[in-house]
Amino acid sequence: MLVKQAQRLKAVRYDIRGPVLRRAQELEAAGHQIIKLNIGNPAPWGLATPDPIINDVVHNLASAQGYSDARGIYSARVAVAQKYQNQGATGVQPEDVMLGNGVSELIVMTLQALLDTGDEVLVPSPDYPLWTGAVSLCGGRAVHYRCDESAGWQPDLEHLASRITPNTRAMVIINPNNPTGAVYSREVLEGMLDLARRHGLLVLTDEIYDRIVFDGAVHHSAAALAPDVPMISMGGLSKTHRAAGFRSGWLAVTGFTGRDTDYLEGLQLLANMRLCPNVPAQLAIQTALGGYQSIDALVRPGGRLHEQREHAWRSLTAIPGVECVKPEGALYLFARLDPAVHKIRDDERMIIDLLEQQHLLLSHGTGFNIDTPDHFRVVFLAPVDVLDDAVGRLGTFLATYRQ
Ligand SMILES: Cc1ncc(COP(=O)(O)O)c(C=O)c1O
Repeated sequence: MLVKQAQRLKAVRYDIRGPVLRRAQELEAAGHQIIKLNIGNPAPWGLATPDPIINDVVHNLASAQGYSDARGIYSARVAVAQKYQNQGATGVQPEDVMLGNGVSELIVMTLQALLDTGDEVLVPSPDYPLWTGAVSLCGGRAVHYRCDESAGWQPDLEHLASRITPNTRAMVIINPNNPTGAVYSREVLEGMLDLARRHGLLVLTDEIYDRIVFDGAVHHSAAALAPDVPMISMGGLSKTHRAAGFRSGWLAVTGFTGRDTDYLEGLQLLANMRLCPNVPAQLAIQTALGGYQSIDALVRPGGRLHEQREHAWRSLTAIPGVECVKPEGALYLFARLDPAVHKIRDDERMIIDLLEQQHLLLSHGTGFNIDTPDHFRVVFLAPVDVLDDAVGRLGTFLATYRQ
């Protein structure tokens, strides 16, 4: 008997974990060592979860045996509400917060609760591709708005406005952005929020990198800028607190009026159906969000993430024909190959060829929903000596590679 997958999965793409990763796994199984700069997973590179967070989970583990409230434990929801209050969204209360098994689960839940077949969602291009994939999974249509590389990858407001139709239900904002590292200016963000306000769109804002900003860049919380716009803000412990394996994230609801409860009831239904998020990982949230924020030392000059970003960007852009907007946030370099120097027709093929020839694993740009095959993404979590080795291998590869 042939067991077939659901028809609706045919439209779902998540290429950054597709054929390229399978080939890397084959090479590893054959005994090759691969430098993997393809995923934003801090812990394997020695960027460990801070001890107080681990200790808190260990200390409370015995009391984490039962299901919790479907929205999550109260103390963690208070901590998340206070975080948003401190960012300027002063009205957020614990009742407005829901916890999840990572932002990933909450992305799917928030869209599942919203979309009917054919509904459109504005998603940035490039994007973190779970967003496009999850819209498709939920029967919707991702309509991509351009982020402008020549303007530091800020969203192009005119293009965004031109993509709105009567079927548009929501606008996705990823700020700071994966894969581009852009941190949106207040003006651009206000422009986006104003469009959402005028067209009655729900804003879904993914701010998982909110504290990973460099060179004095300021992250503006969308909820603080537009308290009147119905909005779901999301964040979690995976990046700023280096606890990706915990699968711990949250959402905060703002801008809904008292009578506007239909969507939120749907969201609560889905939260109830999965019973609750992982309880031990919820126990990490209060400690993570309170007190000393160790991420700050990593992103300031002299800190590991700052230095790695600086180093990787400088060496990468020294390769002939490679350009890259310097990221102001997040953990990635989204580089461009000048077509006058490197004519690439199939960027996924290029990344597989790089992997096979140099045992270096990067991600191809079209995996992030851009429509030209001239970009790739490098994760700069690795220490400087590994980044040097990787960029050296890339330079050697590009010196002779032709398609
Ligand atoms: C923009 C963005 N959102 C969400 C996620 C997933 O986060 P989580 O580990 O909380 O599921 C990632 C992971 O790379 C991401 O880059």
